Amino acid sequence: MKNLISVVAVGIALASAAFAHEGHDHATGVVKERMITMTSMGQSLLAISKRLRANKELDKIAGDAHVIHELAGKLTKQFPPGSTQYPTAAKPAIWQDWASFERQAKKLEAEAEKLMNVKAGDGIALRAQFRVVAQACDGCHETFRTPKEK
Ligand code: HEC
Repeated sequence: MKNLISVVAVGIALASAAFAHEGHDHATGVVKERMITMTSMGQSLLAISKRLRANKELDKIAGDAHVIHELAGKLTKQFPPGSTQYPTAAKPAIWQDWASFERQAKKLEAEAEKLMNVKAGDGIALRAQFRVVAQACDGCHETFRTPKEK
């Protein structure tokens, strides 16, 4: 049962990862930059999930996790106050509760680093830590991102 719940949670992260913003092309400036960051993290997360599913190239997961780790470290800089221009999905709550937003970004950075350090031979630990990373994405989105309409 616990497993099932985790699988569902990861499914949500992946669904949002695969679902690049429609207005992406219309975005400009820092809003566009962070959409690109998020999309890249989504691609790395998806790559990890595919490797785990196929049980192949598990030694490449550390590299994918490294990309997420690097991008996570730059996240908060891409949310300067007042960057609420169309078509952003960033909620004003980010700037009302900045400490919590920052904490969520740090959490992702830390959990991605842990995933980088899991041994490629340990499939169980890789899967477990992958879920934690995906949940770090979802956790922030739940609070700070406007859900997609469709
Ligand atoms: C600290 C909070 C936070 C974390 C952690 C986070 N995100 Fe996001 N994400 C956001 C916010 C806020 C937006 C909306 C940005 C905007 O539209 O300006 C977003 C948007 C996105 C988008 C849509 C991008 C687009 O083109 O519009 C994707 C995909 C995404 N995130 C994937 C991820 C993945 C995958 C992870 C984990 C590896 C992750 N995010 C971690 C806050 C976060």
